[in-house]
Amino acid sequence: MLNLAILISGGGSNMEAILKAVKKHKIPVNPSVVISNKQDALGLGIAQKLGTRTEIVDSHGYKGASWEYDKKLVSVLEKYNVHPKNGLICLAGFMRIMSPEFIKHYKGRVLNIHPAILPSFPGLHSQRQAVEYGVKYSGCTVHFADEGVDTGPIIIQGIVKVHDNDTEETLSKRILRKEHHVYPKAIRLFCEGKIKVKGRKTVLV
Ligand code: GRF
Repeated sequence: MLNLAILISGGGSNMEAILKAVKKHKIPVNPSVVISNKQDALGLGIAQKLGTRTEIVDSHGYKGASWEYDKKLVSVLEKYNVHPKNGLICLAGFMRIMSPEFIKHYKGRVLNIHPAILPSFPGLHSQRQAVEYGVKYSGCTVHFADEGVDTGPIIIQGIVKVHDNDTEETLSKRILRKEHHVYPKAIRLFCEGKIKVKGRKTVLV
């Protein structure tokens, strides 16, 4: 079984959905560690309640993509036996850009979830961008992390309707509920070895 690390910065509701799916034996993976770059991330307490070990790797003072910072992550990941050969790293609301060195080190083993139908609305405040643009549908995307921001090969997307009276908050809530279904599904496919990357596409095998 692969060793799973989940990286968070805040509420950790995606992390919770993933850890609960693991507990229910829906994902064949060993939940090794949850790492936060913020001391006060609410998700840390949730992870502990669910019996998963947690670590803080404080990112204060490290702006933008930083291999210096990411090297600290690697040493914590190694401590929990999450290596390029046996590991899976899920970014779940981890509000940092990973350095190219980190992505290269864990090549093909870093997943991310983004609250929009990529390639629309990458980066920050995707839900606000969707409301302001006036799209009728939005949703979420689970993809491999690559050297770009929200650019890696797409694994699964989930669609939600945008209502006429939606605000950033109401749309974010609806998308988040969808995220909680889609992310565990994508992780299960990965752990079962069913995802093949072909150039910038993925296919299920
Ligand atoms: C989610 O909307 C995720 O797509 C984005 O950040 C949010 C994290 O929420 N990257 P949570 O911490 O999982 O509740």
